[in-house]
Amino acid sequence: MMKLCLLLLVLMTFVTLSMGAATRELVILLFRHGDRSPSNPYANYPHASAWPQGYGQLTTIGMQEQYALGGFIKQRYISSGYLTTAYKRDDVYIRSTNADRTIMSALSQLSAVFPPTGDQVWDNSLIWQPIPVHNVPESTDNILKAFSTYCPAYTRAREQFRRSDEFKEMAAKHQDLFSTISQATHDRANLSNIWQFADTSFCDKAHNLSLPTWAENNFNTLISLNNWDLRISYGRKGVQQFMSGRLMWYFWQLVDAKMNDSVDIKAYFLSAHDVTIVSLLAAFNIWNELQPPYASLVMAELFRDGDSWYLQFSFKNSTEAEAIILSVPGCSPNCSVNKLKELTKNVTLTETEWKHACGLDSNLDLVVLPYIIAIAILSLIIIFLCFVWILIIPCKRLSKPKKYDLLQSDRC
Ligand SMILES: *[C@@H]1O[C@H](CO)[C@@H](O)[C@H](O)[C@H]1NC(C)=O
Ligand SMILES: *[C@@H]1O[C@H](CO)[C@@H](O)[C@H](O)[C@H]1NC(C)=O
Ligand SMILES: *[C@@H]1O[C@H](CO)[C@@H](O)[C@H](O)[C@H]1NC(C)=O
Ligand SMILES: *[C@@H]1O[C@H](CO)[C@@H](O)[C@H](O)[C@H]1NC(C)=O
Ligand SMILES: *[C@@H]1O[C@H](CO)[C@@H](O)[C@H](O)[C@H]1NC(C)=O
Ligand SMILES: *[C@@H]1O[C@H](CO)[C@@H](O)[C@H](O)[C@H]1NC(C)=O
Repeated sequence: MMKLCLLLLVLMTFVTLSMGAATRELVILLFRHGDRSPSNPYANYPHASAWPQGYGQLTTIGMQEQYALGGFIKQRYISSGYLTTAYKRDDVYIRSTNADRTIMSALSQLSAVFPPTGDQVWDNSLIWQPIPVHNVPESTDNILKAFSTYCPAYTRAREQFRRSDEFKEMAAKHQDLFSTISQATHDRANLSNIWQFADTSFCDKAHNLSLPTWAENNFNTLISLNNWDLRISYGRKGVQQFMSGRLMWYFWQLVDAKMNDSVDIKAYFLSAHDVTIVSLLAAFNIWNELQPPYASLVMAELFRDGDSWYLQFSFKNSTEAEAIILSVPGCSPNCSVNKLKELTKNVTLTETEWKHACGLDSNLDLVVLPYIIAIAILSLIIIFLCFVWILIIPCKRLSKPKKYDLLQSDRC
């Protein structure tokens, strides 16, 4: 018995040691903004005055959620010694989309992750220090906000899906609900825009505002239609190259730069949207097909064990929830970087490949092309008319010759 215990102890020590050999080299944190006001309320929406900052804006509850998330991040990465308590600009990089609510979310969160201590305190009455949050203009951010960029092929893919049987069947199934909502709201509800009605109802409920009867009676249906729309519009295979392509490229770029030892950064903070989280998780085939809740967090952690590098994904989907590990289908819990790159090859696109996929690779994009063709045709007509004029007119004049016309006569 004693021997067995000893053996077990030695074995356990060995296992612990060999596990300890793996070191965390990089973490990529992608989170959704916190609680916000409705983004697209319907025509006769009754609670406009409940949202003092207007629509699509972070609320004080959203700030609290982000502050709490910051506490979790501090616990996980600072208390463990992975990051230093003091903010170090060489260790962390924060990027947000260019939306008020994501920038404000990042700032709320960072105030919990890096409150100043020691010589970083610059005002004794303020437990806060400035931390830079980077972003690029919305129209060019095909990495964190591809759904706001111009991509004609993506628009066509969505239009094409609206003609599919799957879409038509789903629309027919809920036609009564759409009619009820249209009547009640003086707005036009259909399968393409039902997410907006779902979103408004969700925000109202989260703030204890009264729901109209159609929303109260169909709340769960609205939520599931919203999840359906997220999958169809952003998560399914046929749109991933447009929605996930550049995000995946960026992701691998960060991982590669760490693996070839060309950056110091140990943690990237990416402040973005539900769709961004869907785009990342769907590309790795680990999305649960539910809308990522406010302030939910995906943690991609890069480990090194000797020469092997692997990634582990965790998802914390609410302030109260524990982080759970997401395992990539067809890959062991510690999925190697090479294997993951292979699995996501088709949905990882360079800027050139993405533009090509979107149908933007020539400078003649689809909007200006018709104008250019029209101008070309018009020019040809004018040139033709000039020729006619030059060739015919002198001949006409010849018919009633004048002395000075004789010089031109051989042109007819
Ligand atoms: C849904 O309604 C919106 C707003 O009226 C309209 O722009 C859109 O084309 C409609 N979509 C479908 C599939 O009918
Ligand atoms: C809504 O009501 C619940 C239950 O009374 C309460 O816990 C919650 O804080 C309220 N939410 C808001 C935004 O007022
Ligand atoms: C390291 O990887 C990054 C990202 O892919 C790349 O831009 C850089 O050129 C690489 N550096 C070296 C030294 O290989
Ligand atoms: C959140 O996580 C819990 C626990 O893993 C899970 O049961 C639930 O379905 C998740 N909800 C969403 C919206 O992801
Ligand atoms: C790697 O996987 C093993 C099980 O296969 C697990 O015990 C270990 O904790 C994992 N390592 C890390 C760093 O997650
Ligand atoms: C990538 O696309 C090619 C061609 O469409 C296909 O044969 C291959 O199975 C795809 N690979 C993955 C990992 O999806």
